Amino acid sequence: MPFPGTILPPLKWTQTALKAMPEVGRLNWATLFGRTAPVVLDIGCGNGRFAIGSAFGRSTHDHLGTDILPVVIRYARKRGNQRGLPNLKFIVLGGHELLERYVEPGSVAEIHCYHPQPYYDPAQIHRRQITPAFLAVVHRSLAPGGLFIVQTDNPGYWKYIQSVVPVFFDFHERIGRWPDSPKGRTRREIVALKKGLPVFRGSGTAKLDLTEDAALQLAESLPPPTFDADRRLRELDRLA
Ligand SMILES: C[S@@+](CC[C@H](N)C(=O)[O-])C[C@H]1O[C@@H](n2cnc3c(N)ncnc32)[C@H](O)[C@@H]1O
Repeated sequence: MPFPGTILPPLKWTQTALKAMPEVGRLNWATLFGRTAPVVLDIGCGNGRFAIGSAFGRSTHDHLGTDILPVVIRYARKRGNQRGLPNLKFIVLGGHELLERYVEPGSVAEIHCYHPQPYYDPAQIHRRQITPAFLAVVHRSLAPGGLFIVQTDNPGYWKYIQSVVPVFFDFHERIGRWPDSPKGRTRREIVALKKGLPVFRGSGTAKLDLTEDAALQLAESLPPPTFDADRRLRELDRLA
């Protein structure tokens, strides 16, 4: 499926690489993007399809995509640069680290997390992105009314998400595909839909009566994501 937007002549390309984080303090969005606009984060952005499409379709919003894999960020940056998008940056960085160390509390309009890696190998399970501690920093990072969007095709992960996300967010499952991208907002969603897998989508706003300290305390009392692996999905992951 083609990426949104068109490849511009090189003179119109932009530089979407965010190569380093501040040595001290947090990111200043206005300095990074050269203007004040709502900020959208895509955590575990993979090849950047969602962030690129959203930046292309919403010039009113600034976007930062992050992933731990340098190779996927390289592709995402190349496509972002070629589309001349001034409202888009990509960085190689863990999602939790980005929010915990570099994002000013209450400064982000939307945090998207599409198909977080299920990590089936028992030795890797501790790397799963959606944990209570992660949700607490998502909660802290969002501006009042800001939105957390999460989706997965893994039923076990979804069951876990349904049990912990509502502790921090007024959370609702979304029934049906995204009207803006009925074939899928991201690479993984497109693959899952083509394979006929169910895709579970949800979004919510941060609970306003939950303080940062209370959220952190709650996070400590909640279970980690220890859902079982699904063999069919594991095979799909291996093939992908
Ligand atoms: C299943 S892929 C989904 C990619 C994309 N969101 C999509 O839906 O196509 C999961 C992505 O999360 C990335 N990832 C895993 N752990 C991460 C972490 N702690 N922080 C940021 N990205 C992470 C992986 O490198 C991978 O690109």
